[in-house]
Amino acid sequence: MMNLAILGFGTVGSGVAKVLAENAAEVAAGAGEEVRLKYIVDVRDFPDSPFAPLLVKDFAVVENDPEVGLVVETIGGCGVALTFTRRALQAGKHVVTSNKQLVAEHGVELLALAKEKGVNYFFEASVGGGIPLLRPLFNDLSANKILAMKGIVNGTTNYILTAMEQSGKELDEALKEAQALGYAEQNPDSDLDGTDAVRKACILADLAWGRELKPEKVPAEGIRGVALQDIRNAASTEGAIKLLCRLIRQEDGTVYAWVAPHFVPKTSMLAHVDSAFNAVVITGSAVGDVLFYGTGAGSIPTASAVVGDVVDAVRHKHAPRGIGWTDAPLTLGDPDTLPARWYIRSGDSWSITEAMPAGMLPQAQVRYRVLD
Ligand SMILES: NC(=O)c1ccc[n+]([C@@H]2O[C@H](COP(=O)([O-])OP(=O)(O)OC[C@H]3O[C@@H](n4cnc5c(N)ncnc54)[C@H](OP(=O)(O)O)[C@@H]3O)[C@@H](O)[C@H]2O)c1
Repeated sequence: MMNLAILGFGTVGSGVAKVLAENAAEVAAGAGEEVRLKYIVDVRDFPDSPFAPLLVKDFAVVENDPEVGLVVETIGGCGVALTFTRRALQAGKHVVTSNKQLVAEHGVELLALAKEKGVNYFFEASVGGGIPLLRPLFNDLSANKILAMKGIVNGTTNYILTAMEQSGKELDEALKEAQALGYAEQNPDSDLDGTDAVRKACILADLAWGRELKPEKVPAEGIRGVALQDIRNAASTEGAIKLLCRLIRQEDGTVYAWVAPHFVPKTSMLAHVDSAFNAVVITGSAVGDVLFYGTGAGSIPTASAVVGDVVDAVRHKHAPRGIGWTDAPLTLGDPDTLPARWYIRSGDSWSITEAMPAGMLPQAQVRYRVLD
C-alpha cells in the first residue's frame, strides 16, 4: 500500500482527494497496489469536509512519517511550495504537482534532486490541466525530433476571447463575467499578460528539447490590447483572435519561442477551440501534427492528470522515470525575424499583409501574426 499526503486543499487539492476516493478501485488497479490518502496539509480548517479528519497544519508531520511515500503539491507559487517540495524529495518521497510556476522556474533543480534521491517528480497537470500532454510528449513521441509546438494553453484568456466573439462584449466586461463564473482569478494579471502561458511554453520546450527555457527569455504579449473590433474583423474573414504559445525549432537547433495574440484562420483546428478549453498541436519529424484537446483547468479534470501521475509514480516507485532537462540554455532566436503574414489595424482600417519580418511592417496600432 502507498500512503500519500496532499499539500494545499484548494481547487486542485480537493479534486485530488475526491478522485482518489471515488475511483479508488481504478487507481489501485493502475498502481498495482492500494493508494491511501493519509494526510491533507492546509493552513485553513475545513470542518464540514468529509476529509476533515485527515487535515494537519504542520508539513513536518508528513515529512517525518516514513509511511508516507508520496506527496501531492497543489499549493501553487514558488514560496512554501518550493520549500515543501525540496523537503519531501530530500526525505525520499515521490512528488506530484500541478504547479507550473514551480516547474518552469525550478524544474532543473527539483528534477535533479528527485534523480539523486531515486524518486519521481511528475507534473502532467502543469500544462493543459486534464489533457494528457506531457507524458505523450516524452513517452509516445520520443521517436520524433520535435519540430514545433503551438497551442491555446490558458483557459481564462480563451474564455474571454470567446465571450467577446460570441456575445459582442468588450474585454473588461468579458473579464468580469469570467471572474463571476470562476474562470478567472480576482487578480487575473498572469493570465491577461501571458505570463501563465509563458510558463507552460517553457515546460513544453524543456521536455521536448532537454534544455532549460527560462520564462524571462520568452517575449510575451497578452490580450489586454485586443479590441472587440479586432475580434469582429477576424470573424468577418472566417478567422478568430486566439492567444497562442508558439515554439519552433530550426534544424540548426535554434528555438523561437513567444506568446501573443494571433489571427487564426478557421481552416486551423485551433480557431475552433472555444471557451475555457485548451489545445496544443505538436509537430514531430516522424508523426507530423498531433492535436491534444480537452479541459485545461478545473478541480476534477486537473485532478485526473494529478492522480494519473500518482498512479505512474507508484507503478515506477522502484525504477523512477529519468525525466529531466539540463540548465544548459536553449539557443534562442528572435521571433520578430521570422517572416509571417500579419493582421494590422489603425483606427477602423485593417488588412492582412504579405509574409514579412516584424521590422518591415508599416506603422499600425495593432499587429498580430496570422497563423499559417
Ligand atoms: N485551478 C485550476 O484549475 C488549476 C489547473 C491546473 C494547474 N493549477 C495549478 O495548481 C496549483 C494550485 O491551484 P489551485 O487553483 O488549487 O489553488 P488554490 O485553490 O488557491 O489552492 C491552494 C491551497 O493551498 C493552501 N495553502 C496556502 N499556503 C499553504 C501552506 N503554507 N500550507 C498548506 N496549504 C497552503 C491555500 O490556502 P489559502 O486559500 O488559505 O491560501 C489553498 O487552500 C497552482 O500552481 C495552479 O497554478 C490549477
